[in-house]
Formats: sequence, C-alpha cells, structure tokens
Amino acid sequence: MSDLEARADSLLVRAASGRPGPRPPVWFMRQAGRSLPEYRELRVGTGMLDACRDPELITEITLQPVRRHGVDAAIFFSDIVVPLAAVGVGIDIVPGVGPVVDKPVSDGADVDRLRALEPDDVPYVTEAIRALIAELGPTPLIGFAGAPFTLASYLVEGGPSRDHARTKVFMHARPDLWHTLLARLAVIAREFLRVQIEAGAAAVQLFDSWAGTLSLADYRDFVLPHSREVLEPLAGLVPRIHFGVGTGELLGAMREAGADVVGVDWRVPLDEAARRLGPGAVVQGNLDPALLGADWPVVEAAVRRVVDEGRAASGHIFNLGHGVPPDTEPDVLTRVVDLIRSLG
Ligand code: CP3
Repeated sequence: MSDLEARADSLLVRAASGRPGPRPPVWFMRQAGRSLPEYRELRVGTGMLDACRDPELITEITLQPVRRHGVDAAIFFSDIVVPLAAVGVGIDIVPGVGPVVDKPVSDGADVDRLRALEPDDVPYVTEAIRALIAELGPTPLIGFAGAPFTLASYLVEGGPSRDHARTKVFMHARPDLWHTLLARLAVIAREFLRVQIEAGAAAVQLFDSWAGTLSLADYRDFVLPHSREVLEPLAGLVPRIHFGVGTGELLGAMREAGADVVGVDWRVPLDEAARRLGPGAVVQGNLDPALLGADWPVVEAAVRRVVDEGRAASGHIFNLGHGVPPDTEPDVLTRVVDLIRSLG
C-alpha cells in the first residue's frame, strides 16, 4: 500500500468517514506546544508568529508529539491568526495572553481592508506540509483554520475576551457590517484550509473555539451561514471536523454547517452528544483536560468512560475536550495513547 492509500485507510480517516475500525484513533488538540520540553527548547528566541512562518520549525514541531506519543495524527503547527497576519492585519501572539490586534475592527473601512487570502501569501504553509507529508508516511496530517466567529471575536475585541460583549454588541447593532466581516473571514479561512488540503492534509479542523458563548438563535442567524461558506465548498475533499468549547446547545447546528465530525468538549457525554447530533454522526473528544493532572487510575477510568460513551456514535476520534494544558506531564499523554492502542 502506498503512503497515500495508507493515509486514506488510516484510523483517523476511517473513523471520520463513519467506517468502523478496531479502536478509536487518538490525537490531542495542542499536542504540539508548551507541554513538551523539546518544543520549549526549540522556541527559545523565536516569536510565535515567526515560528509559524518557518517551514523547518513548523515541520519539526509538528513531528515532535507524533514521535514522542505515537498519536494517530499530526496537527499542523500554526495558529488561527496566521492567515490574518498573512493578509496584512496588524496582529501578534503575546506569550501568556494570546492574539492581540493593533487596531480592533470597528467600522466599514476596517472591514474593507480585510482582503482575500491567496496561496502566495502563505508559501511557508505549502512548503512545510509537503515536507511533513514525506516525513509522516502513513500518518495523516490534520490542517486547521479558525472559524469566522472566533476570528472576528479577536478582531473586534482586540484580544482575548471572557464574555465577548463587544462582539455581541457589534453583531446586533450593525448586522450588515457584521455579515460583511464574517463573509470576508470565511473566504480567508476556506482558502487557508484549501492551501493545506492541496499540499496534502488528510483532514481539516475548523476551530470555532468561542462559539459556545452564543445562544443557538444568534449562532444560527449570525454565524452558521458563514461557517457553512467555509465548510461546504470543501465537501468530499477530506473529512471536516468542526469544534468549539461549551457548544452543547449548538452541536446540531455545527453539524448542519457542513461537518463530517463534530468536536465535543467535556461538558456533554459523547453518547448524549451523539443523540443530540442524530443518526450517522461522528464525534471527536472529550476527556476533560483538567483530569490529565490526576493520578493515573483516575485518568484511566475517565479515558475508558469516554471510549465507552463514544461507541454510541457512528464513529469516534478520541481527543481532549479542549487543548492540552501547558503544565501537563508529557508521559501522561503517552500513557493515554498506549491505553487506547491496547483497546484495538
Ligand atoms: O498542537 C496543536 O494543536 C497545533 C497548533 C495550534 C496552535 N494554536 C499553536 C499555539 C493550534 C491548532 C492553535 C489554534 C488556536 N489558536 C486556537 C483554537 C484552538 C483552541 O485552543 O481553542 C485559538 C483560540 C488560538 C489563539 C491562541 N494562540 C491562543 C488563545 C493562544 C494561547 C496564548 C497563551 O500564551 O496562553 C495562542 C498561542 C499559541 N498557539 C501557542 C501555541 C503552541 C502558545 C504560544 C507559544 O508557545 O509561544
């Protein structure tokens, strides 16, 4: 079997397509990053966005967790704000804070300045993915982008926010401008995913990390149509995973946006998530990341429960309910992978 065929037949792609496998595939959101000493060492002296533009660093950082933990998929090392910076938005990632915008978006001129993303804007992405595909062999690479709402929340708030109040006021007070903003962000996100698929990503994940802050009604009116503009045109190319935090009320709508797999945080058990999503649904998740700090018997019992609950769905990709906390002991992640591998 060629590597291309092996990737198409990998546990990840099989589960994402609802084809049965011997066990769930496992990978972790934020598996590449600060929980690994080899990552911290490599990042000394290089800013986050500069690291995301360096094909050699991207390649090495993406491979680190695959080598160390033996996960079933790699996730491309980048950030949701990389394509925004690539089209000229003044934005940086401040350590311990997150993305910070020079001039928050507040009027029509700000929205007009947001132009479409062209493949030539991100040559380092194509270059790094080609190198990664060669190194990864049969292991699939997951590409990703930030969803229009989550990207807009950073642009409107100017940085991370707890309640996203400015974003909510913006969408209700200036709905026309909001829809123009999200339509532009949808093009950027979709083209960023397309570049990754064309370079060889075997699956993609759309991160709408902060969508759970919205009511279902607001999600449907102000967000879903734009996320659909990201996901629908990519149908049939590679499996599409759609994830957010605190989205228990939104799961069905997130599937409707055009997802093959819906990511679930730790608040909703996977059997209940499968029920809410309806027939044929594939889920990803959902170990509470906080439990990674517990003694092993606690972690083991929680992992087994997630796997059991995941059997209610038509497919299950094991993951955390959100990203790996930076203070996680890396060996715990390796043990979780070993446990899941022992199930198949
Ligand atoms: O392993 C992986 O998951 C791949 C890499 C990845 C990063 N960011 C690297 C990163 C991915 C998939 C992301 C996506 C991302 N970035 C999201 C969606 C995922 C989620 O967590 O919900 C969001 C909301 C962002 C925005 C962002 N970037 C935040 C909130 C932060 C943390 C700020 C901090 O320092 O606490 C970042 C920075 C970031 N992105 C880091 C990494 C490894 C840490 C910065 C560093 O190592 O210097």
